[in-house]
Amino acid sequence: MLRFLITAGPTREYIDPVRFISNDSSGRMGFALAQAAVRRGHRVTLVHGPVALPPPSGARCVAVVSARQMLTACRRIWPRHDVLIMAAAVADYEAAQPSRYKVRAARGQRILRLRPTPDVLATLSAARRPGQVVIGFALEDRQPRRSATAKLRRKNLDAIVLNSPRAISATRSRLEVLVAGRGWERWPSGSKTRLAERLIRLAERLSRREQV
Ligand code: CTP
Repeated sequence: MLRFLITAGPTREYIDPVRFISNDSSGRMGFALAQAAVRRGHRVTLVHGPVALPPPSGARCVAVVSARQMLTACRRIWPRHDVLIMAAAVADYEAAQPSRYKVRAARGQRILRLRPTPDVLATLSAARRPGQVVIGFALEDRQPRRSATAKLRRKNLDAIVLNSPRAISATRSRLEVLVAGRGWERWPSGSKTRLAERLIRLAERLSRREQV
């Protein structure tokens, strides 16, 4: 039995009390991962942004809204887990100065100043103890393998799962997987449920330090 920390869904970065920056992530991949891990007898904590999915049975769910909240929740619980799978589509930017009041409409252009959100995956990876496994995701449409390989190195990951923007909010996906120190593998396209099962088995092998 392993303790999985899985993240899912988008984050929302509020500009004012009623408006936010976000993305199209449905949370399906992360929820499927949580369900697959439970089915294989693992203990699962699922930290997720705003989604319209039923909670996977048997997983402990923690709902958050923003990237900062996701970081706070994950940082607190990461030490008690063995494997992190960071499937969430964390927003890369937040408003530099969110307004306390609803911003009024005005004629003409307006500039919204943004600043980067904290990188949850890089932070947790840097804080890991020996034996903890860290798996990230990458969504790429240009030079996909090159960019994803750079992310694996930069964030010091055990593996990275590459998918294309077409996968976002879809029920099926096509994944390519890179385990650190090995070559790229292209997995046949399938439902997110099936792909999730395969990813959980890969995480189990990485955790046992087996050849994958
Ligand atoms: N991630 C994170 N915190 C962020 C941004 C991303 O934890 N603030 C995680 C995602 O959950 C995912 C991986 O990092 O596992 C994706 O890396 P990232 O460099 O953000 O890739 P993209 O979002 O695809 O960004 P880029 O525009 O750099 O390609």
